Amino acid sequence: MARYIKEILTLEPQDGVVAEGWLRTARSGKNVAFMEVNDGSCPASLQVVVEPSLSNFAEVAKAGVGTAVRVTGELVPSPAKGQQVELKASAVEIVGTVDTDYALQKKRHSFEFLRTIAHLRPRARTFGSVFRVRHALQAAIHNFFDQRGFIQVHTPIITGSDCEGAGEMFRVTHFDLNAPIPKKDDHADFERDFFGTETSLTVSGQLEAEVFALAFKNVYTFGPTFRAENSNTSRHASEFWMIEPEMAFCDLSGNMAVAEDFIRGIVQNVLDRCADDMAFFDQWIERGLTEKLEKIINAPFEVLTYTEAVAQLEKAPQRFEFPVHWGVDLQSEHERYLTEELIGRPCFVINYPRDIKAFYMRVNDDLKTVAAMDLLVPGVGEIIGGSQREERGDVLKEQIGRFGLDAAPYWWYLDLRRYGGVPHAGFGLGFERMLMYITGMQNIRDVIPFARTPGNADF
Ligand code: 4AD
Ligand code: MG
Repeated sequence: MARYIKEILTLEPQDGVVAEGWLRTARSGKNVAFMEVNDGSCPASLQVVVEPSLSNFAEVAKAGVGTAVRVTGELVPSPAKGQQVELKASAVEIVGTVDTDYALQKKRHSFEFLRTIAHLRPRARTFGSVFRVRHALQAAIHNFFDQRGFIQVHTPIITGSDCEGAGEMFRVTHFDLNAPIPKKDDHADFERDFFGTETSLTVSGQLEAEVFALAFKNVYTFGPTFRAENSNTSRHASEFWMIEPEMAFCDLSGNMAVAEDFIRGIVQNVLDRCADDMAFFDQWIERGLTEKLEKIINAPFEVLTYTEAVAQLEKAPQRFEFPVHWGVDLQSEHERYLTEELIGRPCFVINYPRDIKAFYMRVNDDLKTVAAMDLLVPGVGEIIGGSQREERGDVLKEQIGRFGLDAAPYWWYLDLRRYGGVPHAGFGLGFERMLMYITGMQNIRDVIPFARTPGNADF
């Protein structure tokens, strides 16, 4: 049976080794052919040496980049630099040939071009590392919560309530869009739609996670979320994954402590587990990346109130495109200034004005701000948004009204405040933004297998 190339590269010289994979490079002369075979198990490829004595040498010597092969042979010490062993082939089976128009040749392709061949790009070096680290990061996240007794909740993807209250939802309907839509009082009659009510793809699993926190104390969700915001930036996707822990008997400072511990824990785990992929990113994508990440493991994150942050921004030597004053939402240029120029490492901004944050955030005693927290990191900006939740039923009702939302769909959410409600808090980490921070990749489209962004749902 074939073993992973990652494992083969660590074996002692021996006979009877089988490797399977795709050719990264292929060079051949009259007397010998060299092939580098990669199977996605690690950044390195296995060098295979093929001699003319092989019965199908002519066929093998013609095999181009991208060909799928199964090689059997003897693993021998390699004279070449940068590798301990190479495989001296006794048999090479061409499992899948490659047409001559194969787009992924051995040369540098731009990330923009590679997005147009998302069905082939996982085989490119950078994307091998990106998607291995993506896997390792999700495992680290589950592991972090599992070790701390958090229960994972699978919150619904189709939902009847708008968690963020921002109306940026993709509608889910079974109406025939080519026929007149059933109407009642001039509006679409969702009572006649599939679910008997208006439904959308979720923007967040938080409200449902709160239900579970009030039974299991500490819970988290990890699922896809969807936002119909028309932001064509390098950090916004219409479909992204979010991790949302929710803790009962917890306030804003407890929330920040979990978030900080969490970011450190998962970064450490990925650095330990993906040393070779991280070395690749450090060399080719962001110089000094591992040092940056090691630093954040060792230094506490900074905390600024929104009011302090605005004062700092008003004093900033640079001019911003969007002027700042107390009451405005922070734009990415402001966030970047705070975390990159002013602080130089991750920082929490807390206690935002009540009117620019979501309705469920706990109103502070000043009645002007809410117990919100955003975590900003250099290079990416906001990676976490969270808060203590409003546990007082009357204040929550007032907030729903203040934001102009219809209270009816939130009946069960309000009920939680009447039946054993407790102070509770949580946050959402954008999985892809975290991945950008860890890998140094600069565009969210390059850390998602198949990105969905405004104007694009290819593949
Ligand atoms: O700040 P947001 O909107 O917070 C919530 O959804 C809360 N319900 C979370 C909670 O308290 N349980 O989103 C959380 C994070 C952001 O900080 C960002 O990292 C990411 O989700 N995010 C996006 N990532 C990629 N593309 C987008 N369009 C994103 N919108 C938010
Ligand atoms: Mg946010």
